[in-house]
Amino acid sequence: MITRTIGKIVLSYSGGLDTSIILKWLQETYRCDVVTFTADLGQGEELEPVREKAERLGVKDIRIIDVREEFVRDFVFPMFRANTLYEGRYLLGSSIARPLIAKHLVRIASEVGADAIAHGATGKGNDQVRFELAANALDPSIEIIAPWRQWTIQSRTQLIAYAEQHGIAIPKDKRGEAPFSIDANLLHTSTEGKILEDPSAIAPDDVYQRTVDPLNAPDEPETVVIGFEKGDAVSVNGIALTPAALLTELNRLGGKHGIGRVDLVENRFVGMKSRGVYETPGGTILLDAHRGIESITLDRAAAHLKDDIMPRYAALIYNGFWFSPEREMLQALIDQSQIHVSGEVTLRLYKGSANLIARNSANSLYSMDLVTFEEGSGTYDHHDAEGFIKLNGLRLKSWAARNGKARPAGCHVP
Ligand code: ARG
Repeated sequence: MITRTIGKIVLSYSGGLDTSIILKWLQETYRCDVVTFTADLGQGEELEPVREKAERLGVKDIRIIDVREEFVRDFVFPMFRANTLYEGRYLLGSSIARPLIAKHLVRIASEVGADAIAHGATGKGNDQVRFELAANALDPSIEIIAPWRQWTIQSRTQLIAYAEQHGIAIPKDKRGEAPFSIDANLLHTSTEGKILEDPSAIAPDDVYQRTVDPLNAPDEPETVVIGFEKGDAVSVNGIALTPAALLTELNRLGGKHGIGRVDLVENRFVGMKSRGVYETPGGTILLDAHRGIESITLDRAAAHLKDDIMPRYAALIYNGFWFSPEREMLQALIDQSQIHVSGEVTLRLYKGSANLIARNSANSLYSMDLVTFEEGSGTYDHHDAEGFIKLNGLRLKSWAARNGKARPAGCHVP
């Protein structure tokens, strides 16, 4: 519900049919200037045509901004420091991009003196929640317009009819069958809708956009070395890369080897289950690589504490609470754990999988001397293990005795 007169709106504009219609609808409904913001998040589309489309719809202030480095450096990498997975499988490619878009919408709104921001997320998904919670946290006075929850358009047919009435060009492929709902950026491509809405239906091959079918991936494995500094990946095969360039390179390698396809049913924050197909080639490699470097540089209790809080941290991001006191608190804990997470890991990419095969670090806690099956230097006294096990076993003996567990008959105890 909008409670005041709106003089200017900043719209998150992709240039697609839906947001073009939203743009027109905003101009007609609020009779005010609409500023468009289009984020280049590495979705792999040419964005200059977006300018022309917005111009044709009478927009005077058109902002197309390359936010790829910011996206990976300030959103994706901090999230990967936690080894984040939602419900054990989803790498949160859409969830992590929304707060960044909201941040820019709010910033531009304040720059141009707009009273409201608008987005094209539907009324059934998580994305509306993410945009709006982020905006609330960044500017409590900003109004938010969500046309999909306000207008009378209820179906794709009505949407097309509205476009026709208002002279908005409709791409040929959009006239017939509704397209899949796709969200893409440097971290992932997510596909939902149509046949995928039936979780028992196998996703057709043409759903996949950026990974080859593992069956058709190269027969030769490929080895890749990833360098880390304080928890963030900084190089691939010895070449230092910026965050966005690094993820781009891992996407290329992962895509070529069919890595990072996930077909899953997830629990949306708004209450229903939904089925989606995700492709996160570079992110999947990065997650394994990061776990690999942590395995030698993190203390056991530190690593386990991170694993304990990870599902909570993941749910916060999934549910749209990136900008929140609790996420910032967890982030501080996670970041603190990464001080010594530096070194190199080697992975083998082969037909859909990325396997970690070696790791090394100047900060390693791994001790060959301690672990060796050969004779060590004497720091570890085998006799210590006896008391250690005895004390740990004490309560288990009480428990077994209380439960009346006796030795099996005929068992000889020396
Ligand atoms: N279900 C995913 C999430 O909530 C993806 C949402 C956007 N994807 C899409 N295809 N519209 O993060």
